[in-house]
Amino acid sequence: MPQLENTKWLFSSDCKGRFSKVMHLDVLGRQTIVFNSLKSAYNVLERRTGNYSGRPRFIMAQEILNQSLGMALMDYGELWRRSRRAAHDAVSRTTVQNYHPTQTKEATILVSALLEDPENRHSHFQRANASVILSILYDYPTLESTNEKVVMDIDSNFKWFSRAAARTSFVEFFPWMIHIPQRFAKWKREALMQAAERYDIFLGLFDRVRADIATGGERPSFSASLLRKHDRYHLSEHEMTFLSGQIVGGFETTSTTLKWWTVAMVAFPQVQRRAQAELDAVVGRSRLPTFADVPHLPYVRAVVREVLRWRPPLPFGVPHSATEDDWYEGMFIPKGATCIANIWQCNHDRAIFGEDADDFRPERHLDEGGELLPGPIETNQEGHVSFGFGRRICVGKYLANDTLFISTARILWATTIGHVLDENGKKVVPDLEGFTDGGLLLRPAPYDCKITPRFPEVVSIFSEERERFVD
Ligand code: HEM
Repeated sequence: MPQLENTKWLFSSDCKGRFSKVMHLDVLGRQTIVFNSLKSAYNVLERRTGNYSGRPRFIMAQEILNQSLGMALMDYGELWRRSRRAAHDAVSRTTVQNYHPTQTKEATILVSALLEDPENRHSHFQRANASVILSILYDYPTLESTNEKVVMDIDSNFKWFSRAAARTSFVEFFPWMIHIPQRFAKWKREALMQAAERYDIFLGLFDRVRADIATGGERPSFSASLLRKHDRYHLSEHEMTFLSGQIVGGFETTSTTLKWWTVAMVAFPQVQRRAQAELDAVVGRSRLPTFADVPHLPYVRAVVREVLRWRPPLPFGVPHSATEDDWYEGMFIPKGATCIANIWQCNHDRAIFGEDADDFRPERHLDEGGELLPGPIETNQEGHVSFGFGRRICVGKYLANDTLFISTARILWATTIGHVLDENGKKVVPDLEGFTDGGLLLRPAPYDCKITPRFPEVVSIFSEERERFVD
C-alpha cells in the first residue's frame, strides 16, 4: 500500500495537473472513485445524490468506536434518516438562531482569553468551540478551560477517532481480521479500549440531561428534545446517546477553520485591515459587533468563506458510496464503490474559480458594490464545497458559519493579529503550505503571531463584557 499512509499527495501543489478529473483506483479490491474536479463531483455527488448517499464501511471508526450508531458514518437507511431529521431540526437555517446568545457569549470570552494569553490561542479556539457544542447538545455549563476533564477526554478520544476514520489500518482492507481474538491483536485491544472510553464520555454527558428531565427539569438542549420528542424521532436511548455524542466532534472542524483564519490574517495584513475598516464604518468603536450586523458586514463574511475555500478542514470530505451501478462520462462506477470528493482540488478548481484559484482573495465572493455574491451553482451558491455534497452535506453548516462569523468579527474588532520578528528583526511569515496531519483533518503547521489590542479602550470594554458572563 505505497501511498495510502499519506494521502497528502493528492492535493499537494506539485501534483497539479497530474491527475484526471475522475480517478478510478483499485485499492486491494476496494473500488474507489476520486473526483478531482468540481464539475464531476457536483454532477455525481450532488445531482445524482439519490445514488450516492451511502457510506462505505468504517470498521474501526464506525463499527468498533461508534457501535455502528454514529450518524456521519452510517450507511443510508432508516436509522440515518431519523437521526438526520433530528439533527436537522436542531440546527436548520432557522433554528440556529436560538444559539446566537451562546455563540456571542463564547466569542466574547474567546477574545478576552486571546487578549490575556495570546500564546495559547489554539486552546482558546478549542475551548470556545467545544463550549458552544456542549451547551447546545447537553446544556453543559460554559467550559472554563481546555484542562477540564471532559475536554481532555473528548480531545484524546476524538483524535483517535479521526485517525481511525482515515481508514488506513489493515482491518479496513482485510475485514476478516476483525475476528482475530483480542489477546492476539494489540490493535484490537486498543480499539476496544478507546470504544469503551468513548461510550463512557457519551453516556456521562447524556445522563446529565436524562437526570435533569427525570427530576422535572425544563432546560432546553438537543439531547433533551430527543428525549422529549421521542414520538417524532423514534430513537432508542442508546441511539440518542450516540447521536448527540458523535456530533460533539463538530467543534474540531470549526476550530481548525479558526486556526487557518488566523494564519491568513497574519499572512495577508491588507485583508485584515479592510475587514477592520468595514467594522469601524458599520459598528464603530463603542460597541461590539453582533448578529444584527451580519447583513452589513459582507467583507468579514467573505473572509470566512474564503478561508473555508482556501483551506478546507476536511480536504477529502467524508466518503460517499454508490447504492447502484452507474456510469459517469464513460467510467463505470460499480455499486458499493467508495466515492471521494477531493474537496481541496474542487475548491481550487481553475475551471470554476479562475486562474487565481490558489490565491487567498476574499474579494472573489463580492460584487462591484462590495455585496456578497451567490457562489457558483456547483457550490450550491456557497462559494466552496467544504461542507460536502447532496443529502449528506454537513448538517452543522449553519451553526459553523454563525460561530465563525461572530468569533472572527469580534476578534477583528478587538485585536490586531500581526507578525512576530525573528532574531534579525525580520518578519516571520507563516508557512502557508505546511500542514499538520490530524487524520481526516488538515491543520496548519505550527506558526507564530502577535495578538494585541487594536485600540486602548478594548481591554476595559472586554473585561466589562466578560464580567456579565461570570455566573
Ligand atoms: C467549518 C466547520 C465544518 C466543516 C468544514 C464540516 C464539514 C463536513 C463535511 C465535509 C461533511 C461530510 C459531507 C458529505 O458527506 O458530503 C460533514 C458532515 C457532517 N457534519 Fe460537518 N462540518 C463542520 C462543522 C460541523 C458542526 C459544527 C457540526 C455539528 C453540529 C457538524 C456536524 C456534521 C454531521 C452530523 C455530519 C454528518 C452528516 C451526514 O452524514 O448525514 N459539522 N461535515
